[in-house]
Amino acid sequence: MTSRSNSRAGLTINDPRVSQRVQGFPESVIREMTRIAALHPGTVNLAQGFPDFDPPQELLEAVKRSVDHGGNQYSITWGDPGLRASIARRAREFNHIDSDPEKNLVVTCGATEAMMASMLSLIDPGDEAVIFEPFYENYGPDARVSGATPRHVRLEWPDWHFDEEALKAAFTPKTKVLVLNTPNNPTGKVFTHSELRLLADLCTDHDVVAVTDEIYEHMVYDGGRHISLATVGSMAERTVTINGLSKTYSATGWRVGWAIAPPTLATAIRRAHDFLTVCAPHAFQLAGVAALALPQSYYDELKRSYQAKRDRLVTALRATGIECRPPGGTYYVMTDFSAFPFDDDWDFAMHLIDTCGIATVPGSSFYSDPKLGRRKVRFVFCKKESTLDETAARLRKLRPLAA
Ligand SMILES: Cc1ncc(COP(=O)(O)O)c(C=O)c1O
Repeated sequence: MTSRSNSRAGLTINDPRVSQRVQGFPESVIREMTRIAALHPGTVNLAQGFPDFDPPQELLEAVKRSVDHGGNQYSITWGDPGLRASIARRAREFNHIDSDPEKNLVVTCGATEAMMASMLSLIDPGDEAVIFEPFYENYGPDARVSGATPRHVRLEWPDWHFDEEALKAAFTPKTKVLVLNTPNNPTGKVFTHSELRLLADLCTDHDVVAVTDEIYEHMVYDGGRHISLATVGSMAERTVTINGLSKTYSATGWRVGWAIAPPTLATAIRRAHDFLTVCAPHAFQLAGVAALALPQSYYDELKRSYQAKRDRLVTALRATGIECRPPGGTYYVMTDFSAFPFDDDWDFAMHLIDTCGIATVPGSSFYSDPKLGRRKVRFVFCKKESTLDETAARLRKLRPLAA
């Protein structure tokens, strides 16, 4: 059986030359699980959040045209002007966020870099960042590299509500930033207007900047609605709104994301971004103009198809005895395997690989205290229907083990 120790051999870097900063964070478990899946031929990778299908054909054509027509050198550091204009238009139409492409926008290498550049631009060592958990695992290293001390606020299984008093207590005189991810990975929670109102009041009262990762904004199901925190009250003046092409256009390899921020913060993020990466891949930025010009029917179909995929996976999981609720957004399902005779999320995840040929992400990687995720694993459903049907068939092998 694949074991945790041989799969995670590289966890500690035993070399005093390596900085404390990097010693302080582990390898990404999500991406590690993808590598483990690759070592087991035939494994269905439901670990890392990328589709097993291509972006729409017209976007593939747009990339080819971009390469033929000038997209092969650096762009302006903070983004191709055409792409910035498209982002500003889309943000106005969909998010109701007003932005000036010259003053408020920074195009980055994915939302990943937008978050890191924002944290580097806002945080001084000793500052605190309020972060909901379970969290997207990059936020740990983002805090670590920028010098922030994370203050975690728990989203509670199974409906992922949070305790208002715990949230209020997390804001202290040292709080500089709130990191918000809605729709939320890994829980699928879509924050409501009243929750956002509370967050807005706390940020305003404590003079805190919100950095919001809204990369799943188009994957909201059952008639739900995505709301950008920047549009609540006067939050526009203290919010960095992060987004990108990766998820909405099934283009995670293009590495194009962006941040929309008040002018002084955008200037600061541009500086951090300039010296981290200079610019996002120019040809893919140009193709992004075509992506952002897709008609509303594209987004309607995206939502419809992901909701159907969600229902397919949730039905298969429940039939097996794995507990979960249909997520309100994103393309993840966080599950609880308490019905199975496993005490540890890594053991269960490895059992899923060995017995069913399915890779997932152990739940502990989403929590500051690994114990909280000990009976959880996360599945993705951004896969073809045939892949999800194969998953359902493989999961049947687990059923005899359920209590
Ligand atoms: C919440 C969240 N933010 C950001 C990213 C990565 O975005 P990008 O590909 O634009 O860097 C992911 C990828 O899984 C994610 O789940």
